[in-house]
Amino acid sequence: MSSSQLINIVEVICHSFRHLDPRLINHGERVAYILMKMLEDTSYYTKQEKQDIFMLGLLHDIGAYKGEELDSMLSFDMNDSMEHSVFGYLLFQNFSPLSDYADIILYHHHCNAQYYPVPIGNYHRDMAKLIYLADRIDIFCVLNDVKQLDSFLDRYNETVFPSAGIRWFHDANKKYQILNHLHSGAYQEEVASYTKEQLVLTEEQIHKYLMTFIFSVDFRNEYTALHTSYAVYLTENLSHTLHLPAGSAKTVQLAAMLHNIGKVSLSSDLTSVEDYDCYLKELYQNSTIDVTQKILSGTVDAQILQIINESLRILKCWSENEPLSFTPSPAGEIVALSYFISNMMNPGGHISCRPDLVQFLKERYKGCNMDCTILMALEKYFPQIMEQTRSSCESMFRTYHHVMDEFHYLNTILLHYNTKYQ
Ligand SMILES: [Fe+2]
Ligand SMILES: [Fe+2]
Repeated sequence: MSSSQLINIVEVICHSFRHLDPRLINHGERVAYILMKMLEDTSYYTKQEKQDIFMLGLLHDIGAYKGEELDSMLSFDMNDSMEHSVFGYLLFQNFSPLSDYADIILYHHHCNAQYYPVPIGNYHRDMAKLIYLADRIDIFCVLNDVKQLDSFLDRYNETVFPSAGIRWFHDANKKYQILNHLHSGAYQEEVASYTKEQLVLTEEQIHKYLMTFIFSVDFRNEYTALHTSYAVYLTENLSHTLHLPAGSAKTVQLAAMLHNIGKVSLSSDLTSVEDYDCYLKELYQNSTIDVTQKILSGTVDAQILQIINESLRILKCWSENEPLSFTPSPAGEIVALSYFISNMMNPGGHISCRPDLVQFLKERYKGCNMDCTILMALEKYFPQIMEQTRSSCESMFRTYHHVMDEFHYLNTILLHYNTKYQ
């Protein structure tokens, strides 16, 4: 079975956004919807370009969840902070299938920029302006009376928003009732059917979008940066060692990626190892698990949810040393093992694990009356598996530091240009 049948990536992202920050509820999907309808009848862009613009619209604020800059992002101050654009740009550039379009994310607010150190061509600048137009239409309608939208758009016609874009919007709004559908919520059905019937994504693209989204959450600080990554690498290595068939390995990998996606609802404000310990506890509280269930219900294949539920039940038994009351599938056991080990890692810096890991695991299995066939099968290979996982994670940690260095560098430079040329 392919990933495209196992997961509806657009819906997973839309559902996750709903739990991130109440001020951003549905903003990405509303912007994607406005763009989708605006461009529906034009032949200026190809079908593929329209799909890419839809995904850019959905994810344009993906960098907004790092810092406390939502107020500025939602304001109409044209000199607003660019931090979320910079972080989103770096996420897109490093992880997304649209890395060539990353500059569009960087300039989705300041699309008139001429002096910035990352050059942008006219083709991308026009797309950035279009996304900014859809973004401002949505924010304006959320905060103001829709009747004033025309005069708002007139005021900025050509100075900020391209007239062609405004014309596309007016024509499409007349024909498709965009604003009415946004107001009534009917737009969600149209987004869902577009996603199901027209959006074509390869397995690799789905994987990349999912990792881009996960890193937008995990990269909010260095303590959580590798949390999902570590467990996903470990799951892959364990599945490979156990010779899981390719189809099951894919399902297990997705379950590992999504195991605690409910973390989007947790605060990212971690400044110490103690904060990280609290964060790990919160990950397994019922409220976070509920968010995971809400995000994944109906958006991923039932098998994935089943593996996640099994892994959560096993982890609970291991942490409380209670007997397991069911026979888990190998997939559920692999994901539980991966997160059990990932949760024991020292966050950041050195990626090491306890030398007596297998013995420690055996005791947990025994304490929970668990069949240890899988653990025994893995025992001989554990040093290699852990070494491979460590090495993949170190390389990911270097990527994290590279992203953070670029983030600080670009923010400093852009702040300078904004002050000088505004
Ligand atoms: Fe934005
Ligand atoms: Fe936005």
